[in-house]
Amino acid sequence: MPSERHAKTPVDRLDETAARAELDRLAEALNAANRAYHTEDAPRISDAEYDALKARNAAIEDAFPHLKRADSPSEQVGGPVADGFAKVTHAVRMMSLGNAFEDAEVAEFDARVRRYLGLEDGAPLAFTAEPKIDGLSLNLRYEGGRLVQAATRGDGETGENVTANARTVDDIPERLDDAPEVLEVRGEVYMSHEDFAALNGRQSERGDKTFANPRNAAAGSLRQLDARITRDRPLRFFAYGWGELSEPLAGTQYDAIARLAELGFRTNPLTVRCDGPDGMLAQYSAIEQGRATLGYDIDGVVYKVDDLDYQRRLGFRSTTPRWALAHKFPAETAWTRLEKIEIQVGRTGALSPVARLTPVTVGGVVVSNATLHNEDYIAGRDAGGNPIRGGKDIREGDWVQVYRAGDVIPKVADVDLEKRPEDAAPYAFPTVCPECGSDAIREEGDAVRRCTGGLICPAQAVEKLRHFVSRAAFDIEGLGAKQVEQFYRDGWIAEPADIFTLAERFGSGARQLKNREGWGEKSASNLFEAIDEKRKIDLRRVIFALGIRHVGEVAAGDLARHFGTWESFAVGVEAAIPAAHAHRAAAEAVGAEQAAAKVEGRRARVTETREAVWAEADLPMGAKVAWDDLVGIDGIGATVAASLADAFAQEAERASIDRLIAHLDVRPDEPPDTEGSPVAGKTVVFTGTLEKMTRAEAKARAEALGAKVSGSVSAKTDLVVAGPGAGSKAKKAAELGIETVDEDGWLALIGDG
Ligand code: IVH
Repeated sequence: MPSERHAKTPVDRLDETAARAELDRLAEALNAANRAYHTEDAPRISDAEYDALKARNAAIEDAFPHLKRADSPSEQVGGPVADGFAKVTHAVRMMSLGNAFEDAEVAEFDARVRRYLGLEDGAPLAFTAEPKIDGLSLNLRYEGGRLVQAATRGDGETGENVTANARTVDDIPERLDDAPEVLEVRGEVYMSHEDFAALNGRQSERGDKTFANPRNAAAGSLRQLDARITRDRPLRFFAYGWGELSEPLAGTQYDAIARLAELGFRTNPLTVRCDGPDGMLAQYSAIEQGRATLGYDIDGVVYKVDDLDYQRRLGFRSTTPRWALAHKFPAETAWTRLEKIEIQVGRTGALSPVARLTPVTVGGVVVSNATLHNEDYIAGRDAGGNPIRGGKDIREGDWVQVYRAGDVIPKVADVDLEKRPEDAAPYAFPTVCPECGSDAIREEGDAVRRCTGGLICPAQAVEKLRHFVSRAAFDIEGLGAKQVEQFYRDGWIAEPADIFTLAERFGSGARQLKNREGWGEKSASNLFEAIDEKRKIDLRRVIFALGIRHVGEVAAGDLARHFGTWESFAVGVEAAIPAAHAHRAAAEAVGAEQAAAKVEGRRARVTETREAVWAEADLPMGAKVAWDDLVGIDGIGATVAASLADAFAQEAERASIDRLIAHLDVRPDEPPDTEGSPVAGKTVVFTGTLEKMTRAEAKARAEALGAKVSGSVSAKTDLVVAGPGAGSKAKKAAELGIETVDEDGWLALIGDG
């Protein structure tokens, strides 16, 4: 226990030894106070005493900066969980929303929902419309009417436990009367304009950092490790949804929200029920007009299908519900000068132009960079060669209009030619990679110019590593983008496999991680442990983590589900390599044929051309089968298949993948829990017209029962569901002797008949 001897000595009278002892004592006292407050829920000292200890600690650190402890309490904002918040796995995934920007998309949404549900045009279909609050979402769990947990959305599956902080928010009730036994209420935490201005005023008075906008202020306040700070930040909460429930709240969205209001939650007064797109658009205008006087930020209007039974049937795409849509307000814009165009090189070698701007405020946020997309965009034309912005190009020195839509990266919308400096020259897009000097080329049909340097290009290598450790990939605690970048620059890691030998190489011996700046004994051993934990990992994460072009999270999931194990995935892709070459040659030949046909004024012979190239390619037996298998996976097209095959065909890349796999124990993809399902593990093809459900609904239902849904019939197909008008696929099934049923047969089989 550090001595109290210097506790009363004024800071300017402390010598170095006394100062060090005081910092030790204060760290211990503050840690104990934090533990008592958060973990034991039994504060031992008053807030004023706590603040005094913190202030003294900060004053000593100012006077003796070199004595500041690595685990200084001033860096920890006080929390007992120095590692951040505990993780919470959501009982029901927290989703985000699909976006729309145009009025026409609202009618499309209505039509899409009708199509999916198989509703006639005239059949009633109601929606709710309500403001989209610009804050952050929160899940509040009540058991027996008591608030037991509050968690942020996080990645949707796991969020952070912010219960202590949520309890400080006035709009969040501690207890509920007459609530279901289990009730998870979801809504948005936000800060009002008034409270935001006052908070920023206090922050700047104290010399603390101010917040860019109310949303950042709300997020920063809710995610405070010290709940006392949260308590002094006036946060508010609107309830707009729910997660797990032990019993339904109501039969409609509108009534369920009314029930939440009865239970004591604040719900948004601008929520209405509409009977179709006209009413939805009317409410959109009404909300937009009132926007400036609401006193809090909103960034659009959310529409939700009112009938909860319909919501259940509609279900979810990978991250968004089919039954809701966010209709965003138009982006805010501002004019500023484009100082310079810089090129960034991405993970797949793409050269992306970025505009460096004279900083300007757009919708409350200071913007100094904006994306310029690609070289055509700068030149003033779209992918098809047609003029955009009236054909005006963008040059360094130009006045440009920038805009922000939601959270996305700012973009350049327009150029003011009258303000163009006389000496401004058209921008010459580089044809060599600015990072490694390799040629940067544009392939036929690709809007993007790419560096050909592959792994020798440092920018690509770093981006690949950053992607590898990202949240949806390996997600290694303590190893973020910043750390991998530093390790790469210092030559500690060059590729993902090297991460798994870090402990071997830098755990002991001459150069050790714990001796690096910013690291210590504890953080180094924590990192090695976190890395070890990820040696056993899901197949879908591995496939996604490879960073192969066009293979996003969804495609990686589809591939994992189809192949099941790393071995069959690798064998499948490898076998398809020769076919990918044939596919590319065929695409080129088809392009040439189409161009020729256009000149000659005749119809292009697309199928014949394609088939001729495939025939000429004279592929080994397995290649065509492997290719068909890949493109037969629902969701995987020729583009993804070709990109996978390309990656596996490149020797250096393939070797790098193999080196990685050698360190891993790849967990096979588990099919969903479908015990008792008659179609689990079966490959099903739907063809023809379905009358009782839409194709999308049928597919989602089949997958939920553990079936694989494929787009084409092959020897691997187990069952074909053929509706009226089924053509070649049903014929092929008959030829191959594959079991074929009609829609009623299918419904009877899965027990829905
Ligand atoms: S409903 C499954 N309603 O917007 C649907 N979300 O862009 C869940 N948000 O994560 C969301 N106001 O944080 C819904 N009235 C509202 C909302 C709202 C704001 C946020 C929410 C969500 C994000 C999606």
